[in-house]
Amino acid sequence: MERYTEPKYRTVLEAKENELKDLREKSVDSAWKPAYHIHPQYGLMNDPNGLAFFNGEFHVFYQWYPFSAMHGMKHWAHVKSTDLVNWERLPAALVPVEDYESHGAYSGASLEVDGKLYLYYTGNIKYSAEERSANQCLAIMDQEGNIQKYENNPVIEGVPDGYTGHVRDPKVFEKNGNYYMFLGAQRKDLTGAIIVYESDNAIDWSFKGELDLQIDFPESVYMLECPDYFELNGKDVLIFSPQGLNADGHNYYNLYNVIYTIGKLDLESLKYEVEHCQELEKGFDFYAPQTFEGKNKERLLFSWAGMGEIDYPSDKEDWAHCLSIPRELNLVDGKLVQRPSDLLKQLRVKSDSSKVTIEAESKNIDEGIEQHELEFIFELGEANKYGIELFSSEKEGLVLEFDRGSQTVSLNRKKFNSAFGGEYGFVRSSELKIGRHVKVQVFVDHSIAEIFVNDGEAVFTARVFPEEKSNGLKLFSDGKVNCSYTKHELKQGITR
Ligand code: FRU
Repeated sequence: MERYTEPKYRTVLEAKENELKDLREKSVDSAWKPAYHIHPQYGLMNDPNGLAFFNGEFHVFYQWYPFSAMHGMKHWAHVKSTDLVNWERLPAALVPVEDYESHGAYSGASLEVDGKLYLYYTGNIKYSAEERSANQCLAIMDQEGNIQKYENNPVIEGVPDGYTGHVRDPKVFEKNGNYYMFLGAQRKDLTGAIIVYESDNAIDWSFKGELDLQIDFPESVYMLECPDYFELNGKDVLIFSPQGLNADGHNYYNLYNVIYTIGKLDLESLKYEVEHCQELEKGFDFYAPQTFEGKNKERLLFSWAGMGEIDYPSDKEDWAHCLSIPRELNLVDGKLVQRPSDLLKQLRVKSDSSKVTIEAESKNIDEGIEQHELEFIFELGEANKYGIELFSSEKEGLVLEFDRGSQTVSLNRKKFNSAFGGEYGFVRSSELKIGRHVKVQVFVDHSIAEIFVNDGEAVFTARVFPEEKSNGLKLFSDGKVNCSYTKHELKQGITR
């Protein structure tokens, strides 16, 4: 069948003279460019891919369209680091030039096999704007960092019977000497599933079946993207990104959302007994996360801090999105909890602590907060509603509010000149047990805030695009609150 053509299906190798240089110059001085979050110099980034600590270095790949802030021909971009905070940009790792990946090198994961890093990804094929197919492909990175596509690609051609062309995002792992590949999939009846292949050499794969997830998804769920699987404290944890969930209570307000489950997986029968299942994050810009094992065998996560089908204010500068900070995952009281990786402390260049008391008022307590880690410990007196305003000025502010009465925490990003994404609402919220003490840790980086409440009981990621003077910090309350406040100035971790 003939392939689909559109100008956006063009690789970086086809860039016109000076095109990339001009693109880079267009946003190099943008006040919205993050300093320590992995982001593209130009073009659009989406999912993190192929995450690994390999041969003494951290490798992060990500979905990348070079030429503008649109979802076009996807490449795998590549950055690496020895410490998880200072990132070196490398040439694109996967440029989709082959027939089996004619419309992009889509998301996937990596696995170390015989001292080499195997990068699994989906070769996306389009026959028309609607019709597509998918091949599962392999590229191999050696100890020197050379990356070569496997000569007999694809390792899985096409999709198995019973599924549409939406089969993608391989997650590969080894268990008891056998290799398994999980893929996000759409059944022919347009419902979502995770399908499984197995292999004894990580190259030749046979279809095993569908994961029996034992979750009652609403019928509206039409695709499960980006499955991730790992063991943690003897439990089997699955993370995936369902499409088609509707908002419900405090959950699922984004166009696409992320779910995690904790349970027991039987790889023979493919039965997964779910003990716990919930939304992973409460923010606006969090999708397609992936995990990997860090230097000390800890479980680390990076996520795309973005959302599909929404226009972001930086689009007009021809760059879009960034990744989350690396977060460490742990099981606490039967739940999966995300906390900033301890390695992020290496970013700190200067720290200050103070104590603030506020009465029924709102009070500016700091300014120049653009590239900082902030820690707050609130000790509540009579206050019922209180909180923090980040990126604060007369006209703007990102508002985190605690409400003791309803035992909720909410985040509101409406108050910006460049407010965006309003079609999915400006507020996100979570239930939270609010006792006498509340702890909040925030990572601010020019156009993003990542907020960890009570050591990861609720986590919010929010992109905001403030005016240059909106860098104040305000506390507000309807009663007396004592607050210990620490700020850490953070250094640049990646070149613009
Ligand atoms: C998730 C996703 C993946 C796909 C990739 C394409 O954001 O849609 O399913 O592989 O993005 O860029």
